[in-house]
Amino acid sequence: MIDLFVNLKNDPSHRRHLAKTFTWRIIGSMDTALLGWFISGSPVIGAKISGFEFITKMILYYFHERTWYKIPFGIKYRSKNKYATAPTIENIKKQDFSISSKDRSLLMGHKSVVIWFTGLSGSGKSTLANKVAMELHQMEVHTTILDGDNTRLGLNKDLDFSQEGRQENIRRIAEAAKLMADSGLVVLASFISPFAKDRENAKEIIGKNRFIEVFVDTPLEVCMSRDVKSLYSKAKAGKIKNFTGVDSPYEAPENPDIEVVTQDLSIEDSANMIIDFILDEKQLKQDTEQKDKLLKRA
Ligand code: ADX
Repeated sequence: MIDLFVNLKNDPSHRRHLAKTFTWRIIGSMDTALLGWFISGSPVIGAKISGFEFITKMILYYFHERTWYKIPFGIKYRSKNKYATAPTIENIKKQDFSISSKDRSLLMGHKSVVIWFTGLSGSGKSTLANKVAMELHQMEVHTTILDGDNTRLGLNKDLDFSQEGRQENIRRIAEAAKLMADSGLVVLASFISPFAKDRENAKEIIGKNRFIEVFVDTPLEVCMSRDVKSLYSKAKAGKIKNFTGVDSPYEAPENPDIEVVTQDLSIEDSANMIIDFILDEKQLKQDTEQKDKLLKRA
């Protein structure tokens, strides 16, 4: 019973139920007043009945609503996530820790960046990310790969390919990439990420200075003719809905940091182009003196 009130401040569902109580009562009381007037022939009696009823029915309605809110009976599609609750962000405070992401980078011996590969399905994003990771690994750069197919089998297995599903996919990946970059890694993120707005949001989350957008530019006809996973043929036959390039759009980046025209370049040259960019522009490798200083300090 007390629970019905204690969370009034933090749980927005209480405010919703109060608002519903109030609006429904106004409608209900107007109805009662009209019925009272109609039956008794007197508008005053109608108004009196509806006035008395106003407060008592409001209280009853509110408790009735709160009680049903807690009963799952008859609700077919409750949230799939049993931990999902009303937003409680106002109760969360950012915690600071002593080792900064800069300290971690120094220890790694290189800066951390997120290389974001965008392009159609089958354009060669994952192959290129793999090649860049292999090259960087040789150079003793610590890397990790985030890939659409893989993360959709785990972290994001609850998401579909609707516009909203993709938006949430990219948001979660950007947050994950941010955590990994904060840990000192060079992150290679390979996602169709077809919507410019979502890529812009990823850049915001990760940080403009360490986000490198790579457009893997392979024409749709080429991806379709390759059709490595036979998904284009399924999409064309209507067996897969919302397939990028078939019945869902791809918004090509207007101003990517790097554009890889895969038809003109070998995989080695494409990978080198990306590595040269991060070595020049982002000065990936740190001064080893700085690292020594850091280790001495610790
Ligand atoms: S994104 O659009 O949300 O960025 P993401 O990169 O995670 O997509 O996943 C794309 C991969 O999922 C593709 O490489 C393909 O193998 C598979 N896939 C399955 N259904 C679809 C679809 N409707 N549209 C695009 N890719 C799909």
